[in-house]
Amino acid sequence: MDYRQAANERKYDFAASSYDLIAFIMSLGQAKKIYKKVADKINGNVSKKIVELGCGPASVTPYILEHTDISTQITGVDFSEQMIEIANRKKEKHNWENVTFECMDMYNFPETQPADTVIFCLALTAIPDATKALKKALSILKSGGQMIIVDSIPLNSSWWHPFTNTYIYLKSLVVGAKPTRKILSFIHENMVDIEIEEMVYGVYTVIKAKKASQQPHAGFTPDASS
Ligand SMILES: C[S@@+](CC[C@H](N)C(=O)[O-])C[C@H]1O[C@@H](n2cnc3c(N)ncnc32)[C@H](O)[C@@H]1O
Repeated sequence: MDYRQAANERKYDFAASSYDLIAFIMSLGQAKKIYKKVADKINGNVSKKIVELGCGPASVTPYILEHTDISTQITGVDFSEQMIEIANRKKEKHNWENVTFECMDMYNFPETQPADTVIFCLALTAIPDATKALKKALSILKSGGQMIIVDSIPLNSSWWHPFTNTYIYLKSLVVGAKPTRKILSFIHENMVDIEIEEMVYGVYTVIKAKKASQQPHAGFTPDASS
């Protein structure tokens, strides 16, 4: 793990106990709406294996469970021990039988059982190298599987975006995030059936896209590190 990753892990361990409150404040009170939006995007009929990368303290899990049935296997992955401890406490309290939390660096998540859906909720800009994380996600996704992303991504298609981009930038200074347009570029270059939606005037961008049966981008190798 490089030094940026290690520092990130310590930061999230430290923030774990107050994470839900921090998320509520920094999202301008929109956190629950964001989690619900993520769950709404899941194609519950075909998503029998869902992996959330950077799951934190299982904030999104209850919403995913509302959209799926007990036959769906849900795995949350986070490298912060404190976050996973809280997630496991919620699992025990609510008896989430079909949910598993794995404490590991997402780059080490095995690709042996491909997922129907991979989710990044407010996690991609929390990672020093978003492109590397996206490549990892694509490598664990089945052909035709869906990727769902919600994050603060700078946009430039509407007159109000300079204002929202300023908020995104200021927020990133407080939470130590790295907002980057590379997320959208990656999705456009490597995925198909792309749907993009804005929340809160573009403070949050919701992306849903499918992995093509054959990679459209000839130069891309899922396992290659960036
Ligand atoms: C901003 S939180 C988002 C948590 C949750 N998905 C939510 O929406 O509330 C980002 C999470 O990503 C995790 N994370 C960052 N880099 C990671 C990595 N390389 N492997 C696993 N988890 C990582 C952090 O520990 C943190 O819990």
